[in-house]
Amino acid sequence: MENKEFQIQVTVLNHTELPKEYQDLIKLAKEQTQLAYAPYSNFQVGAAVLLNNGLLIGGNNQENIAYPSGMCAERVALFYANSQHPHTPVKALAIAAFNNNDFTKAPISPCGACRQVLIESENRFKSNIEILLYSDEKILLVKKAADLLPLAFSI
Ligand code: THU
Repeated sequence: MENKEFQIQVTVLNHTELPKEYQDLIKLAKEQTQLAYAPYSNFQVGAAVLLNNGLLIGGNNQENIAYPSGMCAERVALFYANSQHPHTPVKALAIAAFNNNDFTKAPISPCGACRQVLIESENRFKSNIEILLYSDEKILLVKKAADLLPLAFSI
């Protein structure tokens, strides 16, 4: 028998420690929360994608009265980015959430389905995606989406 252990590194940063392009990315993710369509949960999520060529693309959660038909902010942003820029790797994705008239105190982290989709984009472009999780106090940075989903589905 063999036991395997998976470890991930999470970097905790102050806003001032972020490079300018990542500060801009966080700003866009925050702005995107205000454009969310979340009448059922009132939980507004914003995501922002930074492409390798410097382009920024935003997205937000889109809910539906048939609940499972809605879509998370991360996948709205990432699918749009990949669909419109099929040859440009994604460098980073930032996430912010707004609820009860304020940004959430703790950073939120992508759901399992979004993690699987992020990993697909990493594999497709053979390029890691840095994930930035926003809160007012600090930013959590994970070096690649694959770190967030050990033993992800693969064929
Ligand atoms: N949601 C996201 O957009 N991203 C996440 O990472 C987690 C959850 C959305 C789905 C739903 O519209 C609302 O937040 C509440 O779960």
